[in-house]
Amino acid sequence: MSTDTMKTIRLHEFGGPEVLRYEEAPIPELKLGEVLVRVHAVGINPPDWYLRDGYKDLPPEWRPPVPFPVILGSDVSGVIEAVATDVQGFSVGDEVFGMVRFPSFGESAAYAEYVAAPASDLALKPAGIDHVHAAGAPMSGLTAWQFLIELGHNEPNPLQPERHRPLPLSGKTVLVNGAAGGVGHLAVQLAKWKGAHVIAVASGMHESFLRELGADEFIDYTKSPPEDIAHDVDLVLDTLGGPTTGRFLRTLKRGGALFPVFLGYPDAEEAAKRGVIVSMTQVRSNGPQLAEFGRLLDAGTVRVANDSTFPLVDARKAHERAAGGHIQGKIVLTVV
Ligand SMILES: NC(=O)c1ccc[n+]([C@@H]2O[C@H](COP(=O)([O-])OP(=O)(O)OC[C@H]3O[C@@H](n4cnc5c(N)ncnc54)[C@H](OP(=O)(O)O)[C@@H]3O)[C@@H](O)[C@H]2O)c1
Repeated sequence: MSTDTMKTIRLHEFGGPEVLRYEEAPIPELKLGEVLVRVHAVGINPPDWYLRDGYKDLPPEWRPPVPFPVILGSDVSGVIEAVATDVQGFSVGDEVFGMVRFPSFGESAAYAEYVAAPASDLALKPAGIDHVHAAGAPMSGLTAWQFLIELGHNEPNPLQPERHRPLPLSGKTVLVNGAAGGVGHLAVQLAKWKGAHVIAVASGMHESFLRELGADEFIDYTKSPPEDIAHDVDLVLDTLGGPTTGRFLRTLKRGGALFPVFLGYPDAEEAAKRGVIVSMTQVRSNGPQLAEFGRLLDAGTVRVANDSTFPLVDARKAHERAAGGHIQGKIVLTVV
């Protein structure tokens, strides 16, 4: 085996989990502004299977061209093996984690032994958590952070003309739908950290998990529609989002807000009539925000739950697990 190659999971075509190929690819070359990370663990996220599927659930105009063969994934935790000459603040041997180059792709990516990552996308891994838990944090944590705490950039919003604005959470009632998933379980904890009263919505199997994470109330959506139970809510973070998100409008107070995490455009007239703001954003890589989030992980204020772990070679099984639904926390691939 050449020393210039590494094990990866690549796609040569779109399809189900069976199109994930474990194969050799060149170790990425370091460009200015980048560090080379020896990957220890990879967090998997819905955009990984959207790409694998050929983005078939997205409107055609949203589907980016995909240059096959392509390595999947954005979230890594690992150890820095090389640093470009212009990079400050990181050294060889540092343990780091990050969401690499999201939302762009086509260059070096996460399902691999090495990733060349813009240094600005990374933060030092919290010393108190291992690579498996750190790898689960970046996309889900940054999504919850950018929706709920601070947007952290001035890039145009691809989902709406307005800038997304998080709201003050202290003393507010926040409902998190899809609360046990990657984004949801971190959002529950961030809202609690900010002093909100949190209503978690998930299937019943997750009740004790979510109560342990701090949820004040729990609604099992398999027994009753949450929109029939919750009322006078200040903010709904709907991680399920999509076409059904508008049902939450009636749970909100006048002046409240609905944040669909997955593209969903509820009836604008009804939202206006109820005096409710609807706002979305697309998560973006952000090393400094991840460093702030990492301090909460290090302190144990927020914890990343691990749904399941698979070796990189079994990425197909990890995607099959994801397709089974009912994810509690994060699915992670281990690389070393
Ligand atoms: N805007 C952005 O930039 C951005 C960033 C990240 C993710 N996303 C999107 O956000 C969504 C969630 O991502 P994720 O990583 O958190 O996904 P995930 O880890 O797969 O979690 C989804 C959760 O939703 C729950 N769920 C499924 N059906 C439900 C229902 N009808 N009502 C309530 N909960 C239900 C599932 O468990 P149970 O059914 O057992 O409760 C699961 O825990 C995805 O669509 C993803 O594409 C958007």
